[in-house]
Amino acid sequence: MKTFFLETSLLQEYISSDEMDSYRQRVELIHTHLQHSEENESELLGWHHYPLNDQDELLQSIEDIATEIKLNAEVLVVIGVGGSFLGAKAVQDALSPYFGSKENGIEVVYVGQNMSGAYIKQLVNYLDGKSVYVNVISKSGSTMEPALAFRVLRNYMEERYGFDAKQRIIATTDASKGILKELANEEGYRTFVINNDIGGRYSILTPVGLLPIAVSGNDITSLLAGAKAAAQDLQESSLDKNSAYQYAVIRQILHKKGYDIELLASFEPALKCFHEWWKQLFGESEGKEKKGIFPASVTFSTDLHSIGQYIQDGQRILFETLLHFHEISEDQSIPFDESNHDGLNYLSHRTFNEVNRICKDGTALAHDEGGVPVLKIELAKLDEFHMGYLIFFFMKSCAMSAYLFGVNPFDQPGVEAYKNKMLSLLKNTELIGGK
Ligand code: PA5
Repeated sequence: MKTFFLETSLLQEYISSDEMDSYRQRVELIHTHLQHSEENESELLGWHHYPLNDQDELLQSIEDIATEIKLNAEVLVVIGVGGSFLGAKAVQDALSPYFGSKENGIEVVYVGQNMSGAYIKQLVNYLDGKSVYVNVISKSGSTMEPALAFRVLRNYMEERYGFDAKQRIIATTDASKGILKELANEEGYRTFVINNDIGGRYSILTPVGLLPIAVSGNDITSLLAGAKAAAQDLQESSLDKNSAYQYAVIRQILHKKGYDIELLASFEPALKCFHEWWKQLFGESEGKEKKGIFPASVTFSTDLHSIGQYIQDGQRILFETLLHFHEISEDQSIPFDESNHDGLNYLSHRTFNEVNRICKDGTALAHDEGGVPVLKIELAKLDEFHMGYLIFFFMKSCAMSAYLFGVNPFDQPGVEAYKNKMLSLLKNTELIGGK
């Protein structure tokens, strides 16, 4: 099995080669722009050449702190929202055991990604009696959710550890500006830098993602090696040879035919948070100026018994991208049962993962018959290397796709709207006495 494969055989009735060809020129122009990513810092294209550059020194410094945290703590609390937490949690969840933590890692928990009082209260209670480190992550340093959570966690750490709290708090933020950077300087926290030219949702392979991923016991060198392999493979300018560009163009053509929703579907529940990362990446990069494909996700076979009805039979407005990893490190064989009451002995020579794979193929055929355009992204193995490969693949195709829509892939002006309304309500409420 190849490292990565984009399987499009079920799309023939939806997309002709002439339609693909009509994008050639635009793709090559955008490709040239991406290839010159190193020349323009203000464009937030730093993620594009990042895996190709030597990151050994950075990896070593992250591993050193990760080792210290693993030796001294039972729990790492990661504070962040959006691009400052989704990537780390996505990789951690994808590669950690379903129950408990990885042998060479410790528990990593997340806060600052919502405003739930119950969540933060219960988290703080949960930390009691455990040895704790905190990694606060914010590029701007001023986002409300993580800032509020850090206020609570900072108090908690200072009360518990006194002067030593500052040894246990690591800040990941801008090199020179922002409130978090100022606070880190004042308090003497150790810091990791988020490069100027890498935006939040493209920052998973920087210290933003790498420190929590390393602490959870996953191999960050291998993750970056996978991203590097993708960055090398995807340097091709030609649409015929570049699967990231093919994926971007396929999405454009389907969208023009009225398929406005893309469903990313996996058959491994561990990938749920990876779906969330992908949704943020595409949703925030493309969804502007009244354009974009709405990114949604499903986990099968669970969701085949709920939303599966709509996919098979509802409005024909969605297309589906099935994500599948061939090798999963653990598997369970299906036992032979003397009585065979359930009639399932015909499966007793199989394993769960085999049945899951056949479920994927059956689902693709059924949804194809139901009029859903289905494409598949196949990877050889669910591990750090292939996750790194997939992450870079999606970032590159997302940038191409947003440029094809004619929007800036790296800003998120729409996010300001809710913040402004919320702030004005919060300030007005204060004026009328907190009611
Ligand atoms: O992609 C983005 O830039 C955003 O989603 C940010 O990651 C998110 O808003 C958090 O921002 P910050 O890291 O500045 O707190």
